[in-house]
Amino acid sequence: MNLGLQDRVAIVTGASQGIGKYIAEALAREGCDVAICARTESDLEEAARDIEEEGADVLAVPMDVTEEGEPERLVAETAERFGRIDVYVGNVGGNRRGKFEELSDEDWEDLIDLNFMSHVRVSRAAIPHMREVEGASICYISSIFGRELGGAGLSLYNTTKSALISVSNVMAQELAPEIRVNSVAPGSIRYPGGSWDQRVKENPEEMKQFVDQNIAIERFGRATEVADAVTFLCSERASLITGTCINVDGGQSHSLI
Ligand SMILES: NC(=O)c1ccc[n+]([C@@H]2O[C@H](COP(=O)([O-])OP(=O)(O)OC[C@H]3O[C@@H](n4cnc5c(N)ncnc54)[C@H](OP(=O)(O)O)[C@@H]3O)[C@@H](O)[C@H]2O)c1
Repeated sequence: MNLGLQDRVAIVTGASQGIGKYIAEALAREGCDVAICARTESDLEEAARDIEEEGADVLAVPMDVTEEGEPERLVAETAERFGRIDVYVGNVGGNRRGKFEELSDEDWEDLIDLNFMSHVRVSRAAIPHMREVEGASICYISSIFGRELGGAGLSLYNTTKSALISVSNVMAQELAPEIRVNSVAPGSIRYPGGSWDQRVKENPEEMKQFVDQNIAIERFGRATEVADAVTFLCSERASLITGTCINVDGGQSHSLI
């Protein structure tokens, strides 16, 4: 299937490792040039070399997306380098566990900035560029815990990931027909060096039980499987899909909506 992504330009945030890097590689394989960012410059440069091997021209911009002006700089440098922006994948995100009554304003501000406002800011800066091309698309990486209860200790994560799905659905209404906006909700995704990989190495029996009890397909998800879903959503082949959140979770989640 030709996804129609040849010669398009994509921004992927948080792409020096993990799911973001797999997404950038998948887009590169389909013919996109890619702008990536992360804080650790050495990791980012290494990732850029790997993504270039897929045939892409890569712009690697070391930055902290939570710092003032940095999301806008990422967009400006991408537009200057490549002359267009077709795809934005808002992947950067993290978790901070804590009991609700013990979380401070600073905890809330930090996670809202990272998991939510970074995507708002990159999107807002990129939209004028995306309006200038045909078939532009935004995709946010949420979580199954943006669609259903994650449990005690996850108020920051649950709230910010739900907010991302919510805003993407409103954006889809406002930005149609020029720009499609969707989100993806991964379940537990294991890749070398990632948090689930570490937990499996530390507690293999406990993790086997976790998988048996929670994931219908009886294994962790792969980052390539998330990347494939995102690449499809950002492609011409998904031209009728906007305002949707797709679970990529092997049957881990239980939400009816
Ligand atoms: N892994 C899972 O099972 C899973 C499940 C559901 C949803 N997700 C979501 O998928 C996304 C990716 O997860 P992941 O597991 O691949 O994460 P990860 O391995 O922790 O990678 C995060 C990436 O973002 C970068 N980053 C972190 N903070 C940043 C900041 N302030 N500014 C710029 N870059 C930053 C990191 O590099 P630096 O540290 O060098 O900045 C790294 O490249 C997240 O939104 C996560 O919530 C993951």
